[in-house]
Amino acid sequence: MPTSVAAVAAPIAYGVEDIYFSVVHVSVSTGAIKGQGEHMKVVVIGATGTIGKAVVDALAKRGHEVLSASRKSAVRVDIEDTVTVSALFDGTKNVDAVVCCAGGAGWGPLGNLTDDDFALSLRYKLMGQVNVIRVAMGKVNAGGSITVTSGVLATQPMPGSAAVSLVNAGLEGFVRAAGLEMTRGVRVNVVSPPWVKETLRSMKMDESKGLAASDVAKAYVAAVEGQSNGKVLEAARFV
Ligand SMILES: NC(=O)c1ccc[n+]([C@@H]2O[C@H](COP(=O)([O-])OP(=O)(O)OC[C@H]3O[C@@H](n4cnc5c(N)ncnc54)[C@H](OP(=O)(O)O)[C@@H]3O)[C@@H](O)[C@H]2O)c1
Repeated sequence: MPTSVAAVAAPIAYGVEDIYFSVVHVSVSTGAIKGQGEHMKVVVIGATGTIGKAVVDALAKRGHEVLSASRKSAVRVDIEDTVTVSALFDGTKNVDAVVCCAGGAGWGPLGNLTDDDFALSLRYKLMGQVNVIRVAMGKVNAGGSITVTSGVLATQPMPGSAAVSLVNAGLEGFVRAAGLEMTRGVRVNVVSPPWVKETLRSMKMDESKGLAASDVAKAYVAAVEGQSNGKVLEAARFV
């Protein structure tokens, strides 16, 4: 195990500059932990989605080997079914990083949200991604990383977002805590995207306040290549 694992796992001050400073520092001082500029094997779950496609493109352009996973992709996984998540890692060795851009939750006026809406939200976006972390933390290579996805509605709710805000905020709390218990230099972070331009466009809404998926992807690249751990990475800060 690399000598600097403990240092790598220690939380650092949040900020893009901190992350990139740390990357340079670690790779110069040890050469053992993969970081910026080094080839990694990355599994992207939700790879065919609006954000996932952009993350796959961004990681591939940076020279990483990317395995695209989803319910219908070549590498199959359903994050609602932990057995398939375990099978994914049993069948795919030497993974340096896992990124999950899959997840959804109920939407609508609070008074209209049903038990099923809440059950789906908890099972899919929250526990689906929590279970990806629980499985992957013991399977990724030492010094590897896991990155999941919350969203701006965790902290900036709007009418109709109660279930989404619940699971986004829950996931962020989980990641902050889980980061304290990672071993072998493994890191876990959550990217919080704002509304994505392409999504707003498809909903026939004003896209001017959204961020392009290709810009959102920059936060995922920083999570994979950087040294942050237990952090919420607001995608808008990485553009
Ligand atoms: N788009 C936005 O504006 C926005 C803003 C903030 C946060 N987010 C969050 O970002 C994440 C991705 O959003 P998106 O808009 O890119 O989603 P999307 O376009 O609907 O894509 C979803 C992706 O996840 C896969 N998927 C769906 N269910 C799955 C499951 N049970 N197991 C594994 N893979 C599954 C889909 O492929 P298959 O159908 O093949 O499984 C697809 O690749 C979500 O958590 C969303 O809440 C999005």
